[in-house]
Amino acid sequence: MCGIVGYIGSQQAAPILLDGLEKLEYRGYDSAGIAVYDSGEVSMAKSKGRLKVLNEITHGGETMPGTLGIGHTRWATHGSPSDINAHPHFNKEKSIVVVHNGIIENYLKLKKKLEKKGYSFMSETDTEVIAHLLDHYYDGNPLRAVTKIMHRMEGSYALGIIFRDHPDELYAVRKDSPLIVGHTDGGSIIASDVPAVLKYTRDVYFIENEEIVRLKKDSMEFFTVDEEPIEKECVRIEWDVNAAEKGGYEHFMLKEMNEQPKAITDTFSPRIKEGKIVIEELNMSAEEIQDIDKIMIVACGSAYHTGVTSKYVFEGLARIPVEVDLASEFRYRKPILNERTLVVVISQSGETADTLAALRESKKQGARVLGIVNVVGSSIAREADNVMYTWAGPEIAVATTKAYSAQLIALYLLAMKFAYERGQMKDEVLQEMLEDLKALPSQVEMLLNNKSKIQRFANRYLAARDVFFIGRGVDYAISLEGSLKLKEISYIHSEAYAAGELKHGTISLIEEGTLVAAVLTQKELYKKMLSNMVEVSTRGAFVLAVTNEGNTEVERAADYVVYIPETNRYFTNSLAIIPLQLFGYYIAVGRGCDVDKPRNLAKSVTVE
Ligand code: AGP
Repeated sequence: MCGIVGYIGSQQAAPILLDGLEKLEYRGYDSAGIAVYDSGEVSMAKSKGRLKVLNEITHGGETMPGTLGIGHTRWATHGSPSDINAHPHFNKEKSIVVVHNGIIENYLKLKKKLEKKGYSFMSETDTEVIAHLLDHYYDGNPLRAVTKIMHRMEGSYALGIIFRDHPDELYAVRKDSPLIVGHTDGGSIIASDVPAVLKYTRDVYFIENEEIVRLKKDSMEFFTVDEEPIEKECVRIEWDVNAAEKGGYEHFMLKEMNEQPKAITDTFSPRIKEGKIVIEELNMSAEEIQDIDKIMIVACGSAYHTGVTSKYVFEGLARIPVEVDLASEFRYRKPILNERTLVVVISQSGETADTLAALRESKKQGARVLGIVNVVGSSIAREADNVMYTWAGPEIAVATTKAYSAQLIALYLLAMKFAYERGQMKDEVLQEMLEDLKALPSQVEMLLNNKSKIQRFANRYLAARDVFFIGRGVDYAISLEGSLKLKEISYIHSEAYAAGELKHGTISLIEEGTLVAAVLTQKELYKKMLSNMVEVSTRGAFVLAVTNEGNTEVERAADYVVYIPETNRYFTNSLAIIPLQLFGYYIAVGRGCDVDKPRNLAKSVTVE
């Protein structure tokens, strides 16, 4: 996700801004920029690429005098990485300059209104809309202008704002994206996260939703959205820088697991409008959706596992044939595609060589290609006919968690959209499913808070040699992901099996003490799963079961049970994966493995 910094004080701002942005690099970015007020004007420097480029352009900030400034590292969401899309953004007179972390969900509507009022835009970003909206409402009172735009913007934002007519003030405001402020020697600083300020202070104020800050060289004032002054408590940060980059978590993986509720929300909320699923980026009419006669899902690793899950969802809801294939196999098997095939390629990085090759093969055969991608402007995003972004933010840990969860959400939305447009889903069913979808973030949060129980269980299996994951239907798909999470970070051998397949060979491996994780969330398959669990437990296996709340009968066949809250039968993967992620994580931690950078693995496999 993006990073913002801001400074006002007695020192030169630019070097402080660049240093702060450097401390936010871990958040992932593709471009950066700073703006500094000096003698009646606001000068700016911004560029695509690493901060190194910005440092070179500004000679480490020396070429930009002035003691008031804002800076930004951009993780692209709207508009590809480029100089013009880099922040800061500004109004025509450059009298209002803004940096932004978050997503303005109604930016297109606001942009159209502003264009009607004569505003013109240079970039593709949602942030530029904020600059012109502030211009529209600014009448000499910055605080008033800020509160006005807050009433009109939907979505998430942490903003740093300079008003050229008020050079002794720096404004900041927050809704859903993090923002902190603190005092420095002879000044004040704002930032998206603690690492950017630790060099200057450990005493910070965490800005809450819809709070506004007005910073001056030697003071800071806090206001509500109604311009009511408020008092805030200062907090002492005890973290070291390394811990701070992980938000206080021990590993990026744990931090990103805990970011799953937000990744899920950010991925579905812009696509649900007045009880309808709106996927503008799909760019397919109802007729075109009805004309598709096969969906081919192609990906690697965890992305492939989301494809396996979505096969059941698409076929169950939309009654459309779905094939799922490993990208590394796809182009060598002479796939049968035509213009009525929709190929969906799924990729967090958007750079996986096999998946990119599958995309190119599909286009060669005239199929329509939709990319489900997390990195904006990546190769797959650019080459797909259409791209549906997952808004999980940058994922640092090699083992994917929040991007995986966001991919599931994108696929649920797509399957529900197809079912509805193909007349396979009544409106009341759609509304029920949308309610279940909106409940997922808080249910995921509740399961994440249940981590100590999982940690205790995991610590009993640090010396395990073989672990088996079994499930049926979508529970087979989640078994694939649970198994991969465990083996890729703990180096324990693990396999996933369709539960009904176990007795066709693999059950010979089950012996006294073998751990078998059984996932059973599909009510009509409970009985079958129970008999599979008995099959392995009578041969000595220790059975961990993941099942729906209320299915207490499972305790007769399992040694340890983790319950997940009730949700739509097609969404259970989004919940069952949480205890399995935590299980793999705590086993890896207990075994002293390098959780964020497992041996032999890369975050993006850009070679075939
Ligand atoms: C999963 O935890 C791994 N990081 C790996 O399997 C990954 O999902 C796979 O390499 C695909 O990567 P992509 O989503 O960036 O294409």
